[in-house]
Amino acid sequence: MDTLDLLATRVPNHALPRGFYNDADIFADDLREIWYREWLFAIPACEVPTAGSFVTMQVGDYAVLIVRGADGKIRAFHNSCRHRGSRVCSAAKGNSPKLVCPYHQWTYELDGRLLYARDMGPDFKPSEHGLKSIACEDAGGMVFICLADDPPPFASFLETAQQYLGPQRLQDAKIAFESTIVESGNWKLVLENNRECYHCAGSHPELCRTYPDRPGFTSMDETGAIEPAVAAHWEKCEAAGMPSKFVIAPSQQWRFARIPLLGAGESYTMDGKAAVAAKRLSIAPFANAGSLLFFHFPNSWNHFLADHSVVFRVLPISPTETQVTTKWLVHKDAVEGVDYDLANLTRVWVATNDQDRQVVEENQRGINSPAFVPGPYSELQEDGVIQFVDWYCRTMRERLGGNTAMAAE
Ligand code: FES
Ligand SMILES: [Fe+2]
Repeated sequence: MDTLDLLATRVPNHALPRGFYNDADIFADDLREIWYREWLFAIPACEVPTAGSFVTMQVGDYAVLIVRGADGKIRAFHNSCRHRGSRVCSAAKGNSPKLVCPYHQWTYELDGRLLYARDMGPDFKPSEHGLKSIACEDAGGMVFICLADDPPPFASFLETAQQYLGPQRLQDAKIAFESTIVESGNWKLVLENNRECYHCAGSHPELCRTYPDRPGFTSMDETGAIEPAVAAHWEKCEAAGMPSKFVIAPSQQWRFARIPLLGAGESYTMDGKAAVAAKRLSIAPFANAGSLLFFHFPNSWNHFLADHSVVFRVLPISPTETQVTTKWLVHKDAVEGVDYDLANLTRVWVATNDQDRQVVEENQRGINSPAFVPGPYSELQEDGVIQFVDWYCRTMRERLGGNTAMAAE
């Protein structure tokens, strides 16, 4: 079925029709209209700490290379040699003074210029064979890329990100641990699951020790009632130089907001105490600064705590497979085994990710049944899901040439 026709059958505030979660043609439309056109979270900037540090990633059909240049700037390129197209870098990450294609050793500068190609004759112009660049921006220590030749406006997001993320000091971070899992579910089910905590009490005993699953905390919007505890927390943190108030893009594509953790919770640990007590990553002058929540559709949600940060990246693999990569960031001077215990730092989110994988996979299995009928969302508990699904539907309608008046719903 045509994607636009199926979109027209969607009942507002209900789950999407089945095809959006398992149909190969709709998945191809998702890649083309969303994943190849939107700004995507790629890596934390600290993952490429020095000149020559690189990371590779795959977005649908596109092989991507992110590298820090000799000038300190982070750039992204298509990881496809301008000779016969081999991937120039095949490792997941590394460091190299030049980018040398393994096939015939064409050699590129870190800024993408072709430096050397053996025996190409007198008429060959290296300047015409540099690596093709990809739009790349460092948003307060979070590197975003966009595969489109003409990326959507990003300036107001960048400004807000610098403001909110600055005090989190991501430029002073290192990756303490990372995990990559593949969930057997459509990427939208992964996002939908993340955007509500209706399931948290039933699924996440570890997370719920410190994460408040009440809608007044986690599903706030600019018009909704904010719980007094949240308002007081904003005031306290903002007075300490940490922007904390809820802010959302007009398109609802991204949001920042800080929440306090339950009780005297300082971090996502089993005892609620900071995982990295002595060397906090953020500027917070107190341990219980809560969590700065940040999502950016279509592929990232994040938690920035006083002591450490946890960043998440989602990438689609197939109609029913999605890769989720989680990175735990601590201060670069914090020493494992001395300043933090790795198992203590990672336990809550390793468990939570696996629990989320299970609920997403069960969701996918049930949706695959021809008997599936999209049911209604709870407007109290699942307004974040409604926000995401509405953003998706609006974006797809606009891109596929549908009625933009409808898109404003
Ligand atoms: S394909 Fe890269 S050098 Fe030949
Ligand atoms: Fe969850």
